[in-house]
Amino acid sequence: MTTLANKVAMVTGAGSGIGRASAMTMAARGALVMVTDLDPARAAAVAAEIVEAGGSASCIVCDIGNDDSIRAAVEATETRFGRLNVLHNNAALLSDEAIRGDQEILDIPIAIWDRTMEVTVRGTMLACRYAVHAMRRAGGGSIINTSSIYGIRAANRMPAYSVSKAAVNMLTEVVAAAYGRDGIRCNAVAPSMMRTPTLDKYVPEAIVAYNEDAALVPRLGGPQDVANVVAFLASDESAYMTGHVFPVDGGTLSHLPTYGDERRYLAAH
Ligand SMILES: NC(=O)c1ccc[n+]([C@@H]2O[C@H](COP(=O)([O-])OP(=O)(O)OC[C@H]3O[C@@H](n4cnc5c(N)ncnc54)[C@H](O)[C@@H]3O)[C@@H](O)[C@H]2O)c1
Repeated sequence: MTTLANKVAMVTGAGSGIGRASAMTMAARGALVMVTDLDPARAAAVAAEIVEAGGSASCIVCDIGNDDSIRAAVEATETRFGRLNVLHNNAALLSDEAIRGDQEILDIPIAIWDRTMEVTVRGTMLACRYAVHAMRRAGGGSIINTSSIYGIRAANRMPAYSVSKAAVNMLTEVVAAAYGRDGIRCNAVAPSMMRTPTLDKYVPEAIVAYNEDAALVPRLGGPQDVANVVAFLASDESAYMTGHVFPVDGGTLSHLPTYGDERRYLAAH
C-alpha cells in the first residue's frame, strides 16, 4: 500500500464527504494531517476520528472564500507539524443557496455566479499560492485539486459550478508548469457523481440512477474511491505524474453518450 510516512498533509473541506475520506486515508497511510473546514465542529470531529484510529491529526477552521483564513491554515500546519508536503485542495462553494440557484445561464443570479468564482476558483488558487510558498520551504510537495467531470463535459445544470471546475483544471496545469522545477507537483481528481451527504440532500434518486447507469463500473462511486487516488497522487509513487486531471468516474467519460441505451437494447435482442 502507498506510504505517506513523514508527509504533512493539509486537506480543505475535510469535514465531510471526499475531504473527510482523503484526510482519514492519508492519515491511515502515515501522514500527519491538518484537517480544515469551514465548519469547526466538522473539522474537529474528523481530526478526533483520525486520532482515535491511531493517526496524527490536528484541525483548524479554513474558509476558502477568505484569503486570510487560507493563509492562516497553511501557517498553522507548518507551525503544528513543521512543514507542508501535501495539499488536498478539495473545498468548493457548496452552500444551499449556490446549489439551488446555479440552474442555468438564463436566470442564474449574478451574485451566485460571482460567489462561485470567488470561492471555488479564487480560493483554490490562493490555497495553491500559500501551499507553493510552504512547499518551497519544505523542498517540494504535491498539490491535488478536486475538480469534477462537470469541469470536463457539460451537464444539464450547474453552469457556474462547471465553469469553476474547468478553471480548476487549467489552474492545475498552470501551477504544475510554474513550480515543477521547484519539486512541486500539481494534479487534479475529477470525480463523477459520488455518494456523499451533499448528493443525498440535493440529487433525486432518479438522477442518481442515470449517473450510475452511465458508469462502466456497475455502481455509483463513493468518497473512498476518490481518496485512494488522492493518497496515490500525494505519495512518491506518483513522482513522475504532474499537470494532469484524472477522472475518477467509473469510466463515465470514456464512452459514447448512447452507451447505456445501446447496452439495454443489445441485452434485450
Ligand atoms: N459528491 C460529488 O458527487 C462530487 C462530484 C464531483 C466533485 N465533487 C467535489 O468534491 C469536493 C467535496 O465535495 P463533497 O461532495 O465531498 O462535499 P460535502 O458537502 O460532503 O463536504 C464539503 C465540505 O466542505 C466544507 N466547505 C464548504 N464550503 C467551504 C469553504 N468555503 N471553505 C472550506 N470548506 C468548505 C463543508 O463544510 C463540508 O464539510 C468539492 O470540491 C466538490 O465540488 C463532488
